[in-house]
Amino acid sequence: MDLSRGASVFREGDQGDQLYFIVSGKVKLGRTSPDGRESLLAILGPGELFGEMALFDPSPRTATATAVSETRLAGLKNESLNALLRTRPEVSAQLLQALARRLRRTNDSLSDLVFSDVPGRVAKALLDLADRFGRPATDGVLVAHELTQEELAQLVGASRETVNKALAEFVQRGWLRLEARAVVILDMQRLRQRSR
Ligand code: CMP
Repeated sequence: MDLSRGASVFREGDQGDQLYFIVSGKVKLGRTSPDGRESLLAILGPGELFGEMALFDPSPRTATATAVSETRLAGLKNESLNALLRTRPEVSAQLLQALARRLRRTNDSLSDLVFSDVPGRVAKALLDLADRFGRPATDGVLVAHELTQEELAQLVGASRETVNKALAEFVQRGWLRLEARAVVILDMQRLRQRSR
């Protein structure tokens, strides 16, 4: 399945009978509040999967999945997953590991919402994106996160204005450079200190 930026795979509340593996590109998982505000649970990239919750614990989709760049997905239907788990039991262990990793990450975000200020959360989100999607550039690490500033704000749970202010401050301090849907981290160490 090939998607371009903005195309949805499924929506919160849909019934689902397959999970998806990201072959290339990036997918955002977002939820909408009753008054229409958006919050992002995660940005996932190549090698990660999503849409398994509706299969393991049958219930409607808990988030909307949308491509944020050109994205290629491989879908796996419930029946095929069950057959795979019977013939290759080691796949269950990998799925459990992926779920545990996600819970750990979600717990970290939850603690950050309580314990960290917005600049700290922005710094942490950029470092996490750099870990997963960063590539060496001439003057630092290029993180082509593919997110608008609005989406970045939804990911850290703050207003766009506050996140813009934090980014502008990091730029002014010489810690990073902003590019379209990307940043170049120039001073990893300072950014790491600010994320603690
Ligand atoms: P499902 O509920 O089928 O559809 C939405 C998907 O978003 C869900 O399965 C998970 O794969 C994924 N998802 C839900 N919560 C999180 C989270 N906290 N972090 C990463 N992915 C999530």
